[in-house]
Amino acid sequence: MSASVSPARVGVWLIGARGSVATTVVAGCAAVTAGLQPPTGLVTETPAFADSGLPALASLVFGGHDTVDCPLPKRAEALAAGGVLPVGLPSAVAAELAAADREIRPGGPLPGDTRDEEELITGFAADMRDFVRRHGLARAVVVNVASTEPAPDGAALPPSSLYAAAALRAGCPYVNFTPSTGLHHPALAAPAAACGLPYAGRDGKTGQTLLRSVLGPMFTQRALAVRAWSGTNLLGGGDGAALADPAAAAAKNAGKERVLADTLGTVPEGEVHIDDVPALGDWKTAWDHIAFDGFLGARMILQTTWQGCDSALAAPLVLDLARLVARAHEKGLSGPLSELGFYFKDPVGEAPAALGEQYTALVGFAGRLRGGAGDRPGGVGDSAVEDSGAGGVGDSVVEDSGAGGVGGSVVEDSDAGVGAASEPGDGGGPGRGTDVLSEERR
Ligand SMILES: NC(=O)c1ccc[n+]([C@@H]2O[C@H](COP(=O)([O-])OP(=O)(O)OC[C@H]3O[C@@H](n4cnc5c(N)ncnc54)[C@H](O)[C@@H]3O)[C@@H](O)[C@H]2O)c1
Repeated sequence: MSASVSPARVGVWLIGARGSVATTVVAGCAAVTAGLQPPTGLVTETPAFADSGLPALASLVFGGHDTVDCPLPKRAEALAAGGVLPVGLPSAVAAELAAADREIRPGGPLPGDTRDEEELITGFAADMRDFVRRHGLARAVVVNVASTEPAPDGAALPPSSLYAAAALRAGCPYVNFTPSTGLHHPALAAPAAACGLPYAGRDGKTGQTLLRSVLGPMFTQRALAVRAWSGTNLLGGGDGAALADPAAAAAKNAGKERVLADTLGTVPEGEVHIDDVPALGDWKTAWDHIAFDGFLGARMILQTTWQGCDSALAAPLVLDLARLVARAHEKGLSGPLSELGFYFKDPVGEAPAALGEQYTALVGFAGRLRGGAGDRPGGVGDSAVEDSGAGGVGDSVVEDSGAGGVGGSVVEDSDAGVGAASEPGDGGGPGRGTDVLSEERR
């Protein structure tokens, strides 16, 4: 652990806070902090990130939204019974699980919910701000780890976008670890560009796509002609059940295929399938079959079988992302953090698709985070984007000029925004977030 870590406490607000990934994040953070487990899989605990000023794991405070009410300690026991968490870990970190459980608020929309979009966004944002205020947090990063949704059909905001809008309004940096729409909804492009907050996504790259982002460049660099690339995934758990819906699976598969198109320069024959096999629980088998031509047209096949524990692969990435994005916010960065493409199937901004190049970009980003306690004097409400350009999601990151301005524009109540209680912004005012959103949608 770096000696230069920030002492401030930082919130991690998980959308889907009672799911497998979220529960593994909370239990895993407590286990590593207590020295019960080594930080295996945590890239931010490697030497390249020493002195980057990342918040310490021990400084992270968890909360979130979910639509189910299974207590986190019980969820952790179920994960231990399934072999995802070590036996005995849930009881060893019972206090931390109970503390996070107390900070989980009802999400939405719930069946029969009569709240309209604006009421949902307002309610979610109020929960986030309340969390920050009660714990005296320097900032909170909102991370979407809820069930994958189908792509939206029509103008209505899907739940992931309601939460993303709430994060902007509450002044919280945002990470979308799922393939769901989140900030990528057209109605959120302008607020995302104007909010002065950093954000990252989409869809964590933990297994089959991770391997594809290594193997694709290998074939290209060796001048081998890939003729077909087919894949099948077998998984259970909540994610397996959600992805049994063809519309949800289509959102996931699009990211997997995009990595091939980007690294091979062409889309090979072949498809990706996801089968729900409840008996496998959180354990995933991903099989890839790659047909390629060598010298003089010699026909060859590579087959790979990845057998992973989904949540154990995802949880350290969520912790890495929360720490990196929190530090980016502290340093006054805003806009899409394309340097975090290493973590995603479908990265925001202009990012290389090969894992090696993505790692180089990530290490460069760690260098940018070094130095000082941060350029940002306070939290949201005090920041300004030097020049965010006209684009929103997908544009390159911009440095915060620190001159004050638009950071408060999506914060409904500027003195309730994260960090704004001590450093109120001078741009935008109460209710402007609502205006920005509704103007865009007219
Ligand atoms: N390796 C990985 O595990 C991995 C990799 C990439 C992406 N992801 C994504 O992470 C997400 C979580 O995966 P998981 O295995 O934890 O799934 P899970 O089914 O165990 O958990 C999802 C949680 O989201 C909650 N939820 C559903 N709708 C909600 C809403 N509107 N508001 C708030 N909460 C809601 C559910 O109640 C559940 O507790 C999925 O979208 C998955 O595709 C996982």
